[in-house]
Amino acid sequence: MIEFLLNDEPVRLEDFPADRTLLDYLRETRRRTGTKEGCASGDCGACTVVLARPADGGLVYESVNSCITFLGAVHGRQVITVEDLAEGDALHPVQRAMVEHHGSQCGFCTPGFVMSMFALYKRGAPADREAVHTALAGNLCRCTGYRPIVDAALDACAEPAPDRFSARAGDTARRLAAMPPSGGGQWPGGGFHVPSDLDEAANLLVGHADARPFCGATDLALETTQQLHELPRLVYLGNVPALNRVEMTADVIVIGAAARYAHVHDVLVREFPDLDEILLRLGSVPIRNQGSIGGNLANASPIGDMPPVLIALDAVVNLRRGGDTRRVQVEDFFIGYRQTVLAPGEFIESIEIPRARADTRFVACKNSKRFDDDISTALGAFVFTFAGGVIERASIAFGGMAATPRRAAHVEAAMAGKRPAEAAAAGRAAIGEDFQPIDDVRAGARYRLAVAGAMIDRACLESMGGDNVYRVSRYAV
Ligand SMILES: Cc1cc2nc3c(=O)[nH]c(=O)nc-3n(C[C@H](O)[C@H](O)[C@H](O)COP(=O)(O)OP(=O)(O)OC[C@H]3O[C@@H](n4cnc5c(N)ncnc54)[C@H](O)[C@@H]3O)c2cc1C
Ligand code: FES
Ligand code: FES
Repeated sequence: MIEFLLNDEPVRLEDFPADRTLLDYLRETRRRTGTKEGCASGDCGACTVVLARPADGGLVYESVNSCITFLGAVHGRQVITVEDLAEGDALHPVQRAMVEHHGSQCGFCTPGFVMSMFALYKRGAPADREAVHTALAGNLCRCTGYRPIVDAALDACAEPAPDRFSARAGDTARRLAAMPPSGGGQWPGGGFHVPSDLDEAANLLVGHADARPFCGATDLALETTQQLHELPRLVYLGNVPALNRVEMTADVIVIGAAARYAHVHDVLVREFPDLDEILLRLGSVPIRNQGSIGGNLANASPIGDMPPVLIALDAVVNLRRGGDTRRVQVEDFFIGYRQTVLAPGEFIESIEIPRARADTRFVACKNSKRFDDDISTALGAFVFTFAGGVIERASIAFGGMAATPRRAAHVEAAMAGKRPAEAAAAGRAAIGEDFQPIDDVRAGARYRLAVAGAMIDRACLESMGGDNVYRVSRYAV
């Protein structure tokens, strides 16, 4: 059984197809048709709802794309949809601001924008223009134009006051905390499993050859909503505390495979400040509220953002199958286009990242067509170890340049032993020895090689102290 609150109403479900999405449940079963379906792939934000979960005695409110959220994954959460915001004729402050600033024309995108604004409002802190742009980057509007919408969010979220959800938050948190951490649902030929401990997750996966583990489903759900595949048995890893841990020792940062980007952001950015822009540009807030580094690795896309970063940082993945564990360097994890070393029933337990050192400099550069919410065309990650102004060791990896994210061994060798200014030219000259990229819909091969060369230049310039060289930024709205 899975349990959740639909606003205040307790819901218990036993029988449901594992791959049923929250959006389909809301619209088709509950007739909550305020939540819209635009793309069914997490790109437009029309389906945005807010999930609340207990934290520190209160609630944390997070926007998610209900079109790519599996219904079973809301176990233990409060689901808030646009229908829940107004009380009678009294609009919620974010709705009132949208009316007053003329933020809606056809209205199709409006519920999604309102829910993203609601999540921003519920942070409880004043939101500036940057925070508004970030919060709304996953919502598309085709007719109103963004300025009135941004104005509405700035107005509503300038000084968020307690709202009608605030008074009930303590009670809601207690009701959610009382729900059992494990759960699941059955369906002929499959099922949805919510394990709450590591052994339970490992046994489930090794015992069901057909089961797919997942965390955010921001990749996996697209197999059903876009490719129309059936996913009869799913194991949701998001409720296993060991898979959500973020720990720091003197030497390494250990990140549970299911820890979401929103959760790991601060730790990673404190250690590697250049990751701030990479994480800001990885999907949108709803994607980062759900997506995990474990999923990014296991998905094995050649243009995933974290794999080249983790290869350059010499990170290791800890894998588990039943009671057996093994360690694999991230650079050895990928064995072909969308193929990994994972055996059936095996899953990623955690990722270990060596900590930054005083003599190293980390630089990462993402190239994509849009600033926000766009998959990389190419991504370069660089770790230079310096000795007396000379690059003693260069650890460099690229995404988008080959069938897998890969180390640039020739570039590394060409740059080692040189000062950054000479190293840049040597690295650029060697890039063609490491990669023969393909032409595809995102970019041509020549463009990819040129971009990778420019990234080498930028990494060298920045490592010499030229911060924010060639940095792109959002257009001001
Ligand atoms: C709109 C949109 C924008 C996006 N933008 C970006 C972007 O800018 N950059 C980027 O890199 N990605 C992007 N993505 C892709 C996706 O968000 C990331 O790859 C994310 O990290 C996936 O994490 P997840 O937890 O959602 O993975 P899931 O979808 O839950 O899982 C992905 C795959 O990994 C497997 N898996 C998951 N966890 C484990 C585990 N612990 N062990 C073994 N197998 C596992 C699943 O079975 C599945 O095959 C985007 C996706 C969308 C929909
Ligand atoms: S319908 Fe477009 S993001 Fe969900
Ligand atoms: S108001 Fe029509 S799409 Fe935004």
